[in-house]
Amino acid sequence: IAPVSFDTPLAIPPEAESRVDASGTRVFELTAQEGSTELLPGTTTTTWGYNGSHLGPTLRAERGERVTAEVTNHLGEMTTVHWHGMHLPARMDGGPHQPISPGETWRPTWEVDQPAATLWYHPHPHGETERHVYLGLAGMFLIDDPEAAPALPSEYGVDDVPVIVQDKQFSQDGQFSRESVQEPGILGDTVLANGTFGAFHEVTTELVRLRVLNGSTARTYAFGFDDDREFQLVGSDGGLLAAPLPLTRIRLSPGERAEIVVALDPGEDTVLKSYPPELGDVASELAFGGEDTIEVLQLRAAEELQDSEPVPVELAEIEPLAEEEATVTREFTLASRLINGRSMDVDRVDEVVEVGSTEIWEVSTDDPLMHNFHVHDVQFQVLDIDGEAPPPELRGLKDTVYLEPGRRYRLIMRFEDYADPSAAYMYHCHLLRHEDEGLMGQFVVVEPGQ
Ligand code: C2O
Repeated sequence: IAPVSFDTPLAIPPEAESRVDASGTRVFELTAQEGSTELLPGTTTTTWGYNGSHLGPTLRAERGERVTAEVTNHLGEMTTVHWHGMHLPARMDGGPHQPISPGETWRPTWEVDQPAATLWYHPHPHGETERHVYLGLAGMFLIDDPEAAPALPSEYGVDDVPVIVQDKQFSQDGQFSRESVQEPGILGDTVLANGTFGAFHEVTTELVRLRVLNGSTARTYAFGFDDDREFQLVGSDGGLLAAPLPLTRIRLSPGERAEIVVALDPGEDTVLKSYPPELGDVASELAFGGEDTIEVLQLRAAEELQDSEPVPVELAEIEPLAEEEATVTREFTLASRLINGRSMDVDRVDEVVEVGSTEIWEVSTDDPLMHNFHVHDVQFQVLDIDGEAPPPELRGLKDTVYLEPGRRYRLIMRFEDYADPSAAYMYHCHLLRHEDEGLMGQFVVVEPGQ
């Protein structure tokens, strides 16, 4: 793991510009393009980005708003854009069935209809997702809910800071190398935050909120601070937790998000690091990257800090989905790049879900390998793990969950709307090499009897 000196200010992805059209729809424009970026001092790397050479702007919309994304592909090959964590019709979801050819523009439109959350967007072309994301295509999509906005630090880029964490391997000539592929996928020795290596962020307020996204293709992190200070976990993938949860470490597998609030004293520094994560029963010879300690971001407090409101004791109302409401239980077993013995086939629908139903998905892995599980369309709740209540950090809304090998995760979810038998959603391992190699399946939501 590359040594870090914290001499570069953390890049903050710009907030995307948007216009509101005559029908009241908020319209964003995104262009996927190639460029070159100075990620390491004195080195230019060929990278991909949206509206720039690397990563993408932060999209932002309010609950209840209708949004349109006009996505233009200026790359030399087909791509797609998936809105990870978003509840929306399958045709707008940006999976492998919504390809954008070079030179074309795709215009998905939907109503934002879910709690305030830190979501993200990234390509999803079947078999190529790892490469497209690794080259730099990713950005955040923040949902705000003015009707349910507890007093949390919220000045974007100041005390409400996106932190997209990605590991990269650079070749001798400064290009992204995809050669360091081991079992879970690409493991890089250089970890970037928003594309910045050795980043610091100048803190000017007593509290700072970090919206941490594991945007890596394979690596699982356990984030914490170098002095083991406590932070408050305030949000998980799909929204705020019911109440803040004091922690010193939070594990995030690829695709997962955590919103944390940390307090600093005037003039002090602390470093956000990743410590060797608890991976469960992963075979030690296959737990590549699991031993690494990584410095990600230094927080430097100014000599005088502005007051912050204390973190409220109640953050959100999360209505627990009751096990009794579930009418269907499905089992998913991940083993050797297969789910239930099958490899992803874009022409096959694996599961048919009736609209309006609440379902339990029992997910486990037979491999002694690292896997996680991501479901499109819905935010789920973790009902139990091996029959026991999930740890408190998994009691909020989730769309991706790390699977410790051999354990049985029961996820409960409700499929409220958007019945369309002709368009599929995905579920898959979000370790992108695994996903590309077939650890993925498709479901449709239909009207009863369809
Ligand atoms: Cu973030 Cu189907 O993925």
